[in-house]
Amino acid sequence: MNRTGIIYGINGPVIYLKGNTGFKMSEMVYVGKEKLVGEVINLTKDTTTIQVFEETTGLKPGEEVVATGDAISVTLAPGILSNIFDGIERPLSEIAKKSGAYISRGVSVDSLDTEKLWKTHMTIEKGQAVFGGTIIAEVPETHAIVHKVMVPPNMEGIILDVCEDGEYTINDPLCTLQLNDGTEVKLTMSQKWPIRVPRPTSKRYPAAKPLVTGQRILDTLFPIAKGGTAAIPGGFGTGKTMTQHQIAKWSDADIIVYIGCGERGNEMTQVLEDFSKLVDPKSGNPLMDRTTLIANTSNMPVAAREASIYTGITLAEYYRDMGYDVAIMADSTSRWAEALRELSGRLEEMPAEEGFPAYLASRLSAFYERAGMMQNLNGTEGSVSIIGAVSPQGGDFSEPVTQNTKRFVRCFWGLDKSLAYARHFPAIHWLTSYSEYLSDLAPWYADNIDPNFVHYRNQLVAILNQESSLIEIVKLIGSDVLPDDQKLVLEIARVIRLGFLQQNAFHPEDTCVPLEKQLKMMETILYLNKKCKALVTMGMPMSVLKSENIFERIIAIKYDVANKDLYKFDEYKKEIDDFYDRVLEKNA
Ligand SMILES: Nc1ncnc2c1ncn2[C@@H]1O[C@H](COP(=O)(O)OP(=O)(O)OP(=O)(O)O)[C@@H](O)[C@H]1O
Ligand SMILES: [Mg+2]
Repeated sequence: MNRTGIIYGINGPVIYLKGNTGFKMSEMVYVGKEKLVGEVINLTKDTTTIQVFEETTGLKPGEEVVATGDAISVTLAPGILSNIFDGIERPLSEIAKKSGAYISRGVSVDSLDTEKLWKTHMTIEKGQAVFGGTIIAEVPETHAIVHKVMVPPNMEGIILDVCEDGEYTINDPLCTLQLNDGTEVKLTMSQKWPIRVPRPTSKRYPAAKPLVTGQRILDTLFPIAKGGTAAIPGGFGTGKTMTQHQIAKWSDADIIVYIGCGERGNEMTQVLEDFSKLVDPKSGNPLMDRTTLIANTSNMPVAAREASIYTGITLAEYYRDMGYDVAIMADSTSRWAEALRELSGRLEEMPAEEGFPAYLASRLSAFYERAGMMQNLNGTEGSVSIIGAVSPQGGDFSEPVTQNTKRFVRCFWGLDKSLAYARHFPAIHWLTSYSEYLSDLAPWYADNIDPNFVHYRNQLVAILNQESSLIEIVKLIGSDVLPDDQKLVLEIARVIRLGFLQQNAFHPEDTCVPLEKQLKMMETILYLNKKCKALVTMGMPMSVLKSENIFERIIAIKYDVANKDLYKFDEYKKEIDDFYDRVLEKNA
């Protein structure tokens, strides 16, 4: 029998039912004549509270609410990649086709195309024992990605029959599974999973491999691990979106889940357009081949925005279960936190800091905890890395979303207004940012790139720190009175900032730089530093050193040495040696 209730009160996206409805917590419900999608968020003996993921305008008390028996779930099957969804996995293009406009209400559409035929190769045999996670079929989902169809996590048994390789829809039965209790189920390509529940894994690995991004300040100074978490906080226009796009394009993740929570409706449209045009530099195929987008605009209902990050992470976990490295970009988690705040306000809950609910911290931690490098149920290894942008009002990092996020992420890439204003991009400030993965990743850098990689990195950071303390003095008394060895620190720090940290996302060579070149650049800068130090120790004045253009030459390496021409670094070493000899001669 259908469990139903009658609407008693409506407050924006929140509706109340009186009496004992028999609904369950977190259950999905259909609300009113239009069958709007909702979720039970609070239950007492005589009131049921529901949040509705669609506009409630026009809904009236007295209309009926029907329980579905399921939690809010996503459909997991081929067709997720290259697609664009709203916060509860409804495809935007399909909704547009049905309702003629942007999302309208109560249009019930399938999350994924149920008619499309997918080329399917079965990977199991009759009589085989299978369990949650066993890969039963492979389906080329896009040019870039082979989709692995898996036994749902909670099932185990013997395969009774298997279909031939061929073309099937996501709802066609592919095999019959006899569960351990004797019941028979037909498995298809498609499974459902509740968005608020992490998908199970066998075990979590400690961080050990970097997510290589090709962005020098990230890879070298503040690296994130595969399966790691990072926050990009920054005020208006400081480069949050740009940084996330760069990572989406260039990082060595197999799959990108991009969750956009835009401030303005047209901003999200822009992101969608940009993304559809992006080309995957590694394959030449559209980047969308390995990307799924979840789009929320401010004119979409807040409850859908709240759900979107869970939908996104569930999709990511599903691809991780296949053995892929997945990276999630959430832009921006502040808009998501604002959705929480609005819902909490409607529920008349006791507000905490700046009106955010007291559970803001626990929700943020539950989100970031779903990141990790895992051993999956089927024995494969996969990871979910989470990179969340935070947009604090006025760039003030002391506000609750930034502060709470900081507690749960291990990389902090703090964008700085004055750097962005001075057009130093990426405007990630080297003094406020940090990565707690550095020591976890040091062995990887030593084994795969160079034993000295992290040592060089630490030397760069030390010079930048020295610069920052010297600048305090320079501000007071000017740089002229500094001794030459300190003037040298300032000069080398300038080379590091302009030549290494600054990276132009629009320059074809500089936009993505392999770790080998990052290493060579560090080596060259530190070699220059060593030679200059020797000269200064011998009493050569900095003014003479600066009259040579060697510093500018080293700064320009990022443009002058193509990523494939690393042999040229030998010429630069020679140039530094020549410079050294020249200065010595001049002052002999
Ligand atoms: N790595 C970079 N290289 C070159 N330019 C950059 C880089 N990062 C940011 N910019 C410049 O800064 C501008 C603003 O960046 P972006 O849109 O990413 O900021 P945002 O923090 O997302 O802003 P908003 O607060 O509006 O969301 C870009 O249009 C670009 O011109
Ligand atoms: Mg942005």
